[in-house]
Amino acid sequence: MKKILITGGAGYIGSHTAVSLVEAGFEPIIIDNFSNSEKSVLAGLKNILGKEVVCYEGDCIDRDMMERIFSENDFKGVIHFAAFKAVGESTQLPLKYYSNNIDSLLILLEKMAKYGVKDLVFSSSCTVYGQPDELPVSEYTPRKEAESPYGNSKKICEDILRDYFKSGVNSRIISLRYFNPVGAHPSGEIGELPLGVPSNLVPFITQTAAGLREKLTVFGDDYDTPDGSCIRDYIHVMDLADAHVKALEFLFNQKDNFYDIFNVGTGNGNTVLEVIHTFEKVSKQKLNYSIGPRRPGDVEKVWANTEKINSYLGWKAKYSLEDSLRDSWNWQQKLRERG
Ligand code: WQD
Repeated sequence: MKKILITGGAGYIGSHTAVSLVEAGFEPIIIDNFSNSEKSVLAGLKNILGKEVVCYEGDCIDRDMMERIFSENDFKGVIHFAAFKAVGESTQLPLKYYSNNIDSLLILLEKMAKYGVKDLVFSSSCTVYGQPDELPVSEYTPRKEAESPYGNSKKICEDILRDYFKSGVNSRIISLRYFNPVGAHPSGEIGELPLGVPSNLVPFITQTAAGLREKLTVFGDDYDTPDGSCIRDYIHVMDLADAHVKALEFLFNQKDNFYDIFNVGTGNGNTVLEVIHTFEKVSKQKLNYSIGPRRPGDVEKVWANTEKINSYLGWKAKYSLEDSLRDSWNWQQKLRERG
């Protein structure tokens, strides 16, 4: 079976991608330092898949660990998720973000070259666009000044991959620019596990509905949008996982070297208030929220032009916002049962 290394594979998107990889006939091998995930994720994967997923506990910036993993496994390809991703924290700890997010990619590329592994899917982000001038935003839109060291580290990694490819090395690489990942595996066995107080909208909503948080604050309703709250492109994590499998399969079918960038979103935008009202509909309960001031650094509105990924990879989002919120709520309730 074709082995695929998933760095950060015990994380939110990585764990869901592990499920999709197995279902597509691949064998995922995880490396994760569990700095932003829990061992319970591995049990959840076993419950879904009916078998263990091999996981190395360690750091992608640990050269010896990466040497060991590559020497012990003959990888067909790699998906690189491992990175710190808290936008706010990155402004306080920029060096931590630059060294972790960039060094992990550089060490990974070094090991891939040494062991002749050519195919890489890289986890990038729509944050590289900042506030786009035109919407929906396409990959041809020039990237803007990053709003945070986190977003800048993603831009720098994209540039590293572009220059690495242009140097003529044997490589086939895709960068996927995620919009806003939400939802959970329909089984409720795995989902988003925010550490501490969630900064992202949907986990804050589900924790408020579960009584773990007193109230949700909507960060501003005075934007130039239909109801004044910000617009985002919320994509179900299982759609996002499927996009990674499609990207790998596309690369495996390329004869020549390849590098390109694809948006991964639904192509639709929803306001914060629409998300809240949709959640109330699927959960059949009122949400306690109030309007507060804008959050510094937020862009007003962004959603994806997905024509490129639709045509190149034959991928299109299948789940709706309702599906995402239903699955997020189901996951939150399972978490409460687990205690
Ligand atoms: C969404 C909307 C908030 C919380 C982040 C990262 C980005 C990417 C996706 C990794 C915004 C509003 C939120 C709350 C609110 N991650 N909101 N009250 O900021 O679009 O993107 O996740 O690649 O890098 O920045 O997501 O979920 O934080 O916010 O009103 O308590 O919800 O203002 O409009 P964001 P988010």
